[in-house]
Amino acid sequence: MARRVSKRKMPDRDKHRVNERWKIEEGVFDRKTMMNIEKVFTHGIASRMIHIISKGKEADVYLADAGDKINEMYVVLKIFNQENTSFKRRTEYVKGDPRFDGVKANVTSIIRIWCRKEYGNLKIAEEAQVSAPKPYYFKGNVLAMQLIGDDGVPSPILKKTELEDPEKVIDEIIENMKRLYSAGLVHGDISEYNILIKDNMPFLIDIGQGVSLGHPKANEFLERDVANILYYFKKVYGIEKNQEKVVSQIKS
Ligand SMILES: Nc1ncnc2c1ncn2[C@@H]1O[C@H](COP(=O)(O)OP(=O)(O)OP(=O)(O)O)[C@@H](O)[C@H]1O
Ligand SMILES: [Mg+2]
Repeated sequence: MARRVSKRKMPDRDKHRVNERWKIEEGVFDRKTMMNIEKVFTHGIASRMIHIISKGKEADVYLADAGDKINEMYVVLKIFNQENTSFKRRTEYVKGDPRFDGVKANVTSIIRIWCRKEYGNLKIAEEAQVSAPKPYYFKGNVLAMQLIGDDGVPSPILKKTELEDPEKVIDEIIENMKRLYSAGLVHGDISEYNILIKDNMPFLIDIGQGVSLGHPKANEFLERDVANILYYFKKVYGIEKNQEKVVSQIKS
């Protein structure tokens, strides 16, 4: 599919500012992404790019110095890749969600919706006191959120962590899924890759595909999330839990 290029030209002044602050070469980000990043700066959310944390298929994740509106040292910027085609398969999550009725499901708009959706889902998680990054701001394909980490070092994913007390961590993950469910959301992609471990406690990340309970597949996604996480704890730590019981525990 041909990429639509924005007709709005980014003023050279702004372009220069972004390049300066991000210390990036021309061409790393497309013009629209640069404009969105600039908004994150002008809103006082971030002040300087530090380095990339993760280069993914769908999004790149960056560490940045926080701006003056944020009461922390660092922020994380998740920048969704405008040219990514795997977003196509994600239209399913958006189409069935009553919150997105009437929304066009082409790749460009899906990415924008995705970013907004991840922000909205993180907001719901925050209000439900789920351990997850606090969302700060989003603009287009750029999402700004709290760093889960220490002194600018991101916490590792569950997969890369040897847990001291796995029983406690699995219970805590289930408790967080329950809080999310009570707030009307199912994560939809729970795995050892989308949980960070900080101070021996789990934090749920990558919540863009989370669906509300009104979604026709909400139940299926919940069961799959539970199956995935129970499988991992069984395989790695020999912890056995009954899937049906855990699902009803989350729903109760
Ligand atoms: N708030 C955060 N704090 C610390 N690290 C984070 C944060 N958000 C994301 N990361 C890091 O960036 C990685 C990718 O983030 P995330 O899982 O949200 O993106 P993704 O959509 O799965 O990208 P991919 O295309 O790689 O699948 C995570 O595995 C984690 O290491
Ligand atoms: Mg992920």
